[in-house]
Amino acid sequence: MSTTFRQLGRSGLTVSVVGLGCNNLGRSGTVTETQEGTDAVVHAALEAGVTLFDVADTYGREPGLSETMLGRALGAERQNVIVATKFGMDARGANGVDWGRRGSRKYIMQSVEASLRRLGTDWIDLYQFHTPDPHTPIGETLAALDDLVRAGKVRYIGHSNRAGWQIAEAEFTARAAGTTRFVSSQNHYNLLDRRAELEVTPAAEAYGLGVLPYFPLANGLLTGKYSSGKAPEGSRLTHARQNLMSDSDFEQLRGFGAFAAARGLTELQVAFSWLASRPSVASVIAGATKPEQIRQNAAAVCWEPSAADLAELDELFPPVPKVALF
Ligand SMILES: NC(=O)c1ccc[n+]([C@@H]2O[C@H](COP(=O)([O-])OP(=O)(O)OC[C@H]3O[C@@H](n4cnc5c(N)ncnc54)[C@H](OP(=O)(O)O)[C@@H]3O)[C@@H](O)[C@H]2O)c1
Repeated sequence: MSTTFRQLGRSGLTVSVVGLGCNNLGRSGTVTETQEGTDAVVHAALEAGVTLFDVADTYGREPGLSETMLGRALGAERQNVIVATKFGMDARGANGVDWGRRGSRKYIMQSVEASLRRLGTDWIDLYQFHTPDPHTPIGETLAALDDLVRAGKVRYIGHSNRAGWQIAEAEFTARAAGTTRFVSSQNHYNLLDRRAELEVTPAAEAYGLGVLPYFPLANGLLTGKYSSGKAPEGSRLTHARQNLMSDSDFEQLRGFGAFAAARGLTELQVAFSWLASRPSVASVIAGATKPEQIRQNAAAVCWEPSAADLAELDELFPPVPKVALF
C-alpha cells in the first residue's frame, strides 16, 4: 500500500490522498471503455491503497455508465471505500425529467435513487452538487440533501464549481437553517490553472472544506509525456481536447521537466505533491486509463516542497494576480 490518508476538510471522513477520477470509465476511445478495462484500473487502485473513487451521474458514453461500471468493478470492496458521486449537471434524462432545476428537491430525490441503483449500493459516501443551479434557492437544495443524510442514503455532502461567494452563501444558509453542511469543494486546480487560489481555496480554508482538485494533471500535460510537443499514441490529446496540443507552452513544460529532474523527481510526482501541499487539498483525483498509471499516481505524493521550491514553481507557473479592490 503506497498512499496515505487525510480527513476531508474538518469532517470525520477519511480519504486516501490520491483518489481515482472515474470519468474515463465507459468513455469511448479509452481502455476503460469496457468493463474489463475498468476492472483492471479499479482493482489496481484498490491494491495501491486508493479508497476514494470520484464519479458522477453524467460520466460515460451515455450518462450513468461510469457509475454502473464502477459499482460492478468494486463488487464486495464497496463497503471498504469512499464512493463520491455527483448530481446537478445535465444527465440527459438518465435521472428522469429535470425541468432545468437540478438543485430542486424533486430532482434530487430522483437523482439519488438513480445513482444508488446504478452503483448497486444502499448509500453514497459523498454526494456532490456538481454545478450551481441558478434557478433554485440553495436552501431548498440543502434541505433535500439534509433529508438524504438523515435517511442514511447519503453520508456527507460536497459541492463543485462554486465561486467563493456561492461557497459562503451555502455555508451560512446551512448554518442558519441547522441543516447538514457541505464538507468538500471540487474545482479545476493544477499548476497550469491556479484560478481556484483567488477565491475558492481561501473560502475552503475559512469554512473547513476539503478541496478535491480536478484536472490535477491538466489532461496529462503535467505528466511530461507531451513535453516534446508530440502526443504519445492513444493518449488523451490524440483524440480529445486536441486544441491543447497547439495552445500549450511546451517551453514552459520543458522547464517543468528540468525542475523535476533537478530534484530526482518526475513531473507527475511534482504535480501531485505540489497540489497535496496546498492548504485544504484533501485528495488528488486524477483519472487513469491503465493500471500502471494509477499505480504511479498512488505513489506520487512523495515530496514536500520547500519555500524555495514553491517560489521556483511560482516563477514557472505564476499564480493569477489578485485584483486590488481599492
Ligand atoms: N467537478 C467537475 O466539474 C469535474 C470536471 C472534470 C473532471 N472531474 C473529476 O476529476 C477527475 C480528474 O479529471 P481527469 O481525469 O480529466 O484528470 P487529469 O489529471 O487532467 O487527466 C487524467 C488523464 O491523464 C492521463 N494520466 C493519468 N495518470 C497518468 C500517468 N501516471 N502517466 C501518464 N498519463 C497519465 C490519463 O489520460 P491518457 O492515458 O488518456 O492520456 C488520464 O485520464 C475526473 O476523473 C473526474 O472524476 C470533475
